Amino acid sequence: MGFQRGGRYSLDAFRHEALGEVTSTNTECLARARLGDPGNLWVTAARQSAGRGRRGRSWASESGNLYASLLLIDPAPPERLGSLPLAVSLAVHATLRSVLPMAAEAVEIKWPNDVLIGRKKSCGILLESEALSDGRRAVVIGIGINIGHRPDDAPYGVTSLQEQGCHISPDELFPHLYREMAQVLAAWDEGRAVSSITERWRDAACGIGGQIRVNLPDRSIDGRFAGIDDQGLLILDTGHASMAIAAGDVFFL
Ligand code: BTN
Repeated sequence: MGFQRGGRYSLDAFRHEALGEVTSTNTECLARARLGDPGNLWVTAARQSAGRGRRGRSWASESGNLYASLLLIDPAPPERLGSLPLAVSLAVHATLRSVLPMAAEAVEIKWPNDVLIGRKKSCGILLESEALSDGRRAVVIGIGINIGHRPDDAPYGVTSLQEQGCHISPDELFPHLYREMAQVLAAWDEGRAVSSITERWRDAACGIGGQIRVNLPDRSIDGRFAGIDDQGLLILDTGHASMAIAAGDVFFL
C-alpha cells in the first residue's frame, strides 16, 4: 500500500489531460488504452456530447458540471476487482464532504455507488473494463458530479452542489477528487484490503436494515436491505430467502 511518494497511487503517479468537448471521457480513456497508454491517466472535459450512464442510459453533460475519467491498467487480478466500485464511491463521498458547507444535507452512499446528498442523487459513477489486444486489462472509472446542473426528468430525487450551497467550478473541484481517489486506491491495495473498504462503505451507506425495492432488468424484488458481502453484493432478505444481488437499481420504500 502506498500513498507515499513513488507508490503506485501516490499523488505524483497520475497524469491529467483536460479537454474541451468530447463524446465521453470514458471513451477517450479507452481509446488511449488501446493505443498503449500505461494508465493512471485522468481525462476531464468541459462538456460531453454522448455521456454514458449505467445500463445503457445517457448522461446529460452540459458545461458547468464535472466530467472525469480515470484510466487504470491491470489495477488488480480480476477476482479482486469486485470491491473497486465501492472504493470509488468512498473517494467521491470524501470529495463531496471536503467541499460541502457544514449546513449541507448528509452525504451518503446508495448501493452500489451512487453518492447522495440528502438522499438525492448528486453524481454518477460508471466503471467500464476492456481486455486489450496486448493482454492487458483497461479499467475506466467515469465520474460525473452535478455542480450547477441536474437533470429535471430523473425518476428519483436529484440535486447539485450549488443547490447545497457549494459554489465551486469543475476546475476547483477536480483536485479534491484527484487527491481522494489516490488516497482510496492506495488504501484499496489492489483489492487486498476488501474488508476495510467494505467496512468504510457500510459506515457511509444509507438504508441498511430498511425496506427497499431492487429493480432488475426483468423484475422488481422487495425486501430488507441486510447489507453487503465482501464482494460488494447486495444482500436482500425477502422474508423467504436471502439473495445476493450483483446489479440493479435500489429504491428506498
Ligand atoms: C450513472 O448512470 O449513474 C453513471 C453516470 C456516469 C457519468 C460519467 S460523466 C464522466 C464519464 N463519462 C461518461 O460518459 N460517463 C461517465
